[in-house]
Amino acid sequence: MTLKKNILALRQKKAIVQKGGGDKAIEKQAAMGKLTARERILALLDADSFHEYDMFVEHEERNFGMDSKELPGDGVITGTGTIKGAPICIYAQDFTVMGGSLGLKHARKITKIMDHALKMKVPCIGINDSGGARIQEGIGALAGYGEIFYRNTMASGVIPQISVILGPCAGGAVYSPALTDFVFVVENISKMFITGPNVIETVLGEKISQEDLGGARVHAEITGNAHFYALSEIECLNQIKELVSLIPHSNQQKAERIEPRKPKFRKKIENIIPSDPKQPYDVREVIFALTDESKFLEVQELWAPNIVIGFGRMDGETIGFVANQPMYLAGVLDCDASDKAARFIRFCDAFNIPILTLEDMPGYLPGVDQEHAGVIRHGAKMLYAYSEATVPKITVILRKAYGGGYIAMNSRHLGADFMFAWPGAEIAVMGPEGAANIIFRKEIMEAEDEEAMRQQKVQEYIEKFANPYVAASKGYIDAVIEPEETRELVLHALEVSKNKDDHRPYKKHGVPPF
Ligand code: HXC
Repeated sequence: MTLKKNILALRQKKAIVQKGGGDKAIEKQAAMGKLTARERILALLDADSFHEYDMFVEHEERNFGMDSKELPGDGVITGTGTIKGAPICIYAQDFTVMGGSLGLKHARKITKIMDHALKMKVPCIGINDSGGARIQEGIGALAGYGEIFYRNTMASGVIPQISVILGPCAGGAVYSPALTDFVFVVENISKMFITGPNVIETVLGEKISQEDLGGARVHAEITGNAHFYALSEIECLNQIKELVSLIPHSNQQKAERIEPRKPKFRKKIENIIPSDPKQPYDVREVIFALTDESKFLEVQELWAPNIVIGFGRMDGETIGFVANQPMYLAGVLDCDASDKAARFIRFCDAFNIPILTLEDMPGYLPGVDQEHAGVIRHGAKMLYAYSEATVPKITVILRKAYGGGYIAMNSRHLGADFMFAWPGAEIAVMGPEGAANIIFRKEIMEAEDEEAMRQQKVQEYIEKFANPYVAASKGYIDAVIEPEETRELVLHALEVSKNKDDHRPYKKHGVPPF
């Protein structure tokens, strides 16, 4: 054959693979409101940047009629490309090919691109749309999953790993996304569960829809498995692009600096915080007032909303924000908030992203429910994560900093590099009412007018302890600052922390309260 003929033959072979499971299956995919695996990759990556590998990999299963089955690409597309110029590795399961089910060769295509990502130190993005372990392959499929989980763990903290759930993700398959750093879900399309509704009905006699069992909202709001929630696939792909532009490619790099544009308008912080310390406000307004162009990419927005986490830029550099949210449960720390913050802090620390903590909370949430849910174990994760982190750590106490929460929210005692407090900050063991009721109980009970005495003692406590000056007098707070000075002082603190050199004692690894 001439070279020309060979080229034509190659093109034909490629065209067959690119058709995936064929027109009928593609139509079925579209009818479900889903893009195909190839369309997803092309919509996510920069134009003409995608390069595909292992197109001609074939499965080797011979049982259950599989010997006569041709599975283009073995149901998964793998390759490399760029997102806003940043190189990435990617795989996308193709539901049109045998339901995107995972056999050994399918898994080996995935592990090969994961190995490449780890070696080349670039983010790895996995698009999941699969019926799970290919039932005909049995142990081969299970081996494949295990090899993926192993690599997820090896790559953890070295390169960012992103999972996108754009279809079913059932059985043990859910554990690869759970091991990665960020999970994206889409309304009505994403489904994640260990055990499907059919099995639940057979075993437990309970009828439940796939959506109610493990739909996008369930994971974005209730389980906390999802980090980003979108109403459409295109919105989801845009969220991924934004995230990738904000985080470094590996733990050996810093996120790319983007020269900030001068904001047209920056909201006065003083106008955000209500004068009555009991009134709630949206702490995201404070974040918007601090970040370049008031931009902020919130992570896990719908889960544990009493704490806000996410990425924003300050003077062009990516910063991780951790902020109590007084709008929900007065911003208390509870089991979910602690888990949410702790994992985020560890991501920031692993990937050289400085952390800015904004504090306004009345402490850990009391009550039997929380105690029995393990608030001691979960709360400890936050203490561990902040103490362990060696990236620049800055805290601003906006209002309340009570009890264990004061310590947990990146206090000086856990290694904060800079501690600032606004003049209205209340730093104490507990809220003034609770404190006065306990330490002045006798005086209050013996007073002629109990309520007047209680108020007097509360006032006394506020004046004596619920302010930033006691902590400042001991050096636990570095500076009491005016709210409008916050951005400038944080920027300065970040500037002088650029060469921060902090070491931990040698260990194989710690044993955090997982
Ligand atoms: C082989 C599969 C498959 C699987 C789907 N298909 N899942 N083939 N192994 N796991 C095939 C179907 O037979 C069908 O082939 C095609 O893919 C499309 O599937 P449909 O059922 O027609 O699609 P839909 O109606 O949209 O339903 C999707 C689904 C359903 C909900 C995912 O297919 C389903 O319940 N699949 C089984 C899920 C499951 O139990 N997986 C195993 C989990 S155990 P044809 O030829 O008809 O087009 C597991 C263990 C892993 O994953 C443990 C790792 C630690």
